[in-house]
Amino acid sequence: KTAAIVGCPFSGGQPKPGVDQGPIHLVNAGLVDQLKELGWKVAFDGHHQFEEVSASSDPPIGILKNPRLVSRVSQAVAGSVGAHARQGQFPVTIGGDHSLAMGTISGTLSHYPDACVIWIDAHADINTIETTESGNIHGMPMSFLLGINETHIPEYDWIKPILTPDRLVYIGLRDVDKGEKMILKKHGIKAFSMHEVDKYGIGKVVEMALDHVNPKRDRPVHLSFDVDALDPSVAPSTGTPVRGGLTFREGHYICEAIHETGLLVAFDIMEVNPSLADESAVAQTVAVGCSLVRSALGETLL
Ligand code: ARG
Ligand code: MN
Ligand code: MN
Ligand code: MN
Repeated sequence: KTAAIVGCPFSGGQPKPGVDQGPIHLVNAGLVDQLKELGWKVAFDGHHQFEEVSASSDPPIGILKNPRLVSRVSQAVAGSVGAHARQGQFPVTIGGDHSLAMGTISGTLSHYPDACVIWIDAHADINTIETTESGNIHGMPMSFLLGINETHIPEYDWIKPILTPDRLVYIGLRDVDKGEKMILKKHGIKAFSMHEVDKYGIGKVVEMALDHVNPKRDRPVHLSFDVDALDPSVAPSTGTPVRGGLTFREGHYICEAIHETGLLVAFDIMEVNPSLADESAVAQTVAVGCSLVRSALGETLL
């Protein structure tokens, strides 16, 4: 089996420089060899350059920042992820900010239209054009994937909103905007916040999450992991850290348990920003990013 690394050095979905260096650091830390060590063939043809998509002029649309660039980059990523999936490969996308998930999930759905999405994050990233307060598109990818924006931006017409709210589940939430809470309620989207992780334990939470999005265990799974789901003491180098997050083991358990289902078809690791925090905190965050990927690709403790 072949894992295809899709390196996405991109930061345009949020304002802090450095997150574009995340994928470079993850690869330089030895991710490719680590996956080979697990028995995978690894296809990695270098990081995306996104040069051909750079928008020469990209003024805000409403308050959305870099709207054309973010759209075109994700469209390119959707093409790569979709192509790798069609070749029977397992796409591992390394970001980069979480706006890239518009691309990764669109790519997965282009080949597996009935796939479900498990989103591990401190944030819901489901703001609409109407609700976003920051205008940072990394806080919005789910709204485009679900097709719940009321305002029409032609630039985003390439996204086919074929994901349904019953095929999305969150784990790890603890910083959800007011407008996002209304969206989750309105569409009946299932979310296990840190409160539920505390209450039930991570084992039960993963089981309940799978029961919700995948009751018959027959749907392919796309797992999108924002490293800020982890507690800042575990993954400090990220742009929007929120205290009270997942422990090291809880994060890895999620990846291990989803791997064990045999249904995982794509994995994203996002929001590692090596320019935030000191050198040892960066090394720690990069190492955790690599080990989450390994767990999702089958590394076991015994
Ligand atoms: N909810 C906030 C926003 O919309 C924060 C989003 C953080 N997203 C992330 N991918 N780290 O701006
Ligand atoms: Mn490729
Ligand atoms: Mn987040
Ligand atoms: Mn996120």
